[in-house]
Amino acid sequence: MAKIIAGVGTSHIPSVGAAIDNGNTQQEYWKPLFDGYGPARKWMEETKPDVAIIVFNDHASAFSLELIPTFAIGVAEKFQPADEGYGPRQVPVVNGHPELAWHLAESLILDEFDMTIVNEMPVDHGLTVPLSVMCDQPREWPCKVIPLAVNVVQYPQPTGKRCYNLGQAIAKAVESFDEDLNVVIFGTGGMSHQLQGERAGLINADFDTAFLDDLTADVDRLVKIPHTEYLREAGSEGIELIMWLLMRGALGEEAKEIYRHYHVPASNTGAGLIILENEK
Ligand code: DHB
Ligand code: FE
Repeated sequence: MAKIIAGVGTSHIPSVGAAIDNGNTQQEYWKPLFDGYGPARKWMEETKPDVAIIVFNDHASAFSLELIPTFAIGVAEKFQPADEGYGPRQVPVVNGHPELAWHLAESLILDEFDMTIVNEMPVDHGLTVPLSVMCDQPREWPCKVIPLAVNVVQYPQPTGKRCYNLGQAIAKAVESFDEDLNVVIFGTGGMSHQLQGERAGLINADFDTAFLDDLTADVDRLVKIPHTEYLREAGSEGIELIMWLLMRGALGEEAKEIYRHYHVPASNTGAGLIILENEK
């Protein structure tokens, strides 16, 4: 039987990917951030998940404003790094897990979550930066990846509650897959940031810290946060945090925080990283 053993929450800051790709992680600006990634990478190396379900958002790389799926699942064998305007990142191709992905698609749709099925999709920083954060620069990514894209860029985004419920349905679907697989689920993006408009540059460390705390202490509070509160407290891009709630929904009630790192500022965001383990 397959099982979700843990969840990872991490920001997907493009310049963090560039710092890794260009060998700048030990520079004064970046070192404190990357020092905090060390223990998480060690955990990833020791945990050796077979599959990572990466809940991420596309930044108009695979989907333009012509087509905006609310929830989409990648069922392909491979996903190529996207060209976001300066050439694709020189990172390994992302290998999928079509059998598990199709099983998830079937189970979720029959469970009344109307997933869009994606047979081909270039993956941008939203997916590849979290992999780099957790795995550094391997020749091949150490696990298979199922990309699960969430619309957080165009109103109306799904609610945090809807994301949380989808996470619960994913856990149920994984547990009905008839192969022994250890699965980790990533919730990505965030934390507080605003890239545009009058409040560009907004970061709210108090909001972010309370969010990290309540992933274990008070999930009910987080699930009820309305879009307007994300906008007001965490900036226009802070709503990316609903993807962390999807990850949280896929874990059991008793999930335990085993590692956390929070660093401000990293590029334009509060950079957060958390690892939550399901009870063994
Ligand atoms: C930045 C953060 C993001 O989440 C993003 O998608 C693009 C840029 C930033 O901090 O610069
Ligand atoms: Fe983003």
